[in-house]
Amino acid sequence: MASLTVLVFGATGSAGGSVLRACLDAADVREVRALTRRPLGTAHAKLREVVHDDFTDFTRVAEAFAGVDACLFCLGVSVTQVPSEAAYRAITHDITLAAARALAAQSPTAALHYISGQGTDPGGRMMWMRVKGALERQLMDEFGAVCWRPAFIDGEASDHAPWMLKVATPLLRLLKPFARLYVDGRDLGRAMLHATRTGMRRRVVENHEIRAMAASSS
Ligand SMILES: NC(=O)c1ccc[n+]([C@@H]2O[C@H](COP(=O)([O-])OP(=O)(O)OC[C@H]3O[C@@H](n4cnc5c(N)ncnc54)[C@H](OP(=O)(O)O)[C@@H]3O)[C@@H](O)[C@H]2O)c1
Repeated sequence: MASLTVLVFGATGSAGGSVLRACLDAADVREVRALTRRPLGTAHAKLREVVHDDFTDFTRVAEAFAGVDACLFCLGVSVTQVPSEAAYRAITHDITLAAARALAAQSPTAALHYISGQGTDPGGRMMWMRVKGALERQLMDEFGAVCWRPAFIDGEASDHAPWMLKVATPLLRLLKPFARLYVDGRDLGRAMLHATRTGMRRRVVENHEIRAMAASSS
C-alpha cells in the first residue's frame, strides 16, 4: 500500500530530522526526498537526498518538486540565531515562498505543510510572531497550506539548536504530559502524514491537535 511521495525541508535540523524519520518509518510512504544544503549523512532505501546551495531559487532542482504528494516544510531559524529582522525575514519568508512556488509549479495538487510555531500571530507583539503570522496567511490564501503551530518539539539532536534550547531540553521534556506544551518530533511527522492522507488544506493546527492527530494515526 506504499503510495506517498513526500518532500522534506529542514531534514538536517531538529524538527525536520524527526519528521524525516516518521516518513521513513511510515508503511504507506514510498519515497522521501530531502532537500538540504548539506548532506544528511544517513542512508535509507526510501530516501533520496537532493543537496542544493541556493534556497531562493530552486530552478536547478525543480525535478525534486515533481510528482510529490506533500511538502513537509520544517526549515527555519530561531530569531535568536540571526543578526537582524531582514535576515530573519529572508529565511522565514523568502525561502518558504520560493519553495511554495516551486511546489505549486511542479506538483499543483500537493499539500504544503508549514511549521510556524505556537504563538504565531499577525498582530503579535514580537517580530517573529508577526512575520510568521503574515506568512501563514499568505501560504493559506495562495497555496492552501496547513500551518502547524507546535510548542516545544522534542526532536532530533541538532548541531545548531540555540544554546538555551539545548540547556533547557531536559526540563522541557517534563512538559510531556501537557498536550498544549510538548510534542514529540516524530508525532509531528505522523500528524503531517495523517493530514496528507485525509486531504487537509488551509488550516492552522495547534499543539494539542498535533498530538491528537498523531495518536489517531498510530
Ligand atoms: N524546535 C522547536 O521546539 C520548535 C518549536 C516550534 C517551532 N519551531 C520552528 O520549526 C522550525 C525548525 O526548527 P528546528 O528547531 O528544527 O531548527 P534547527 O534544528 O535549527 O534546524 C533548522 C533547519 O533549517 C535549515 N536552514 C536554516 N537556515 C537555512 C538557510 N538559510 N538555507 C537553507 N536551510 C536552512 C537548517 O539547515 P542546515 O542544517 O544546513 O543549517 C536545518 O535543516 C523553525 O521555524 C522553528 O521556529 C521549532
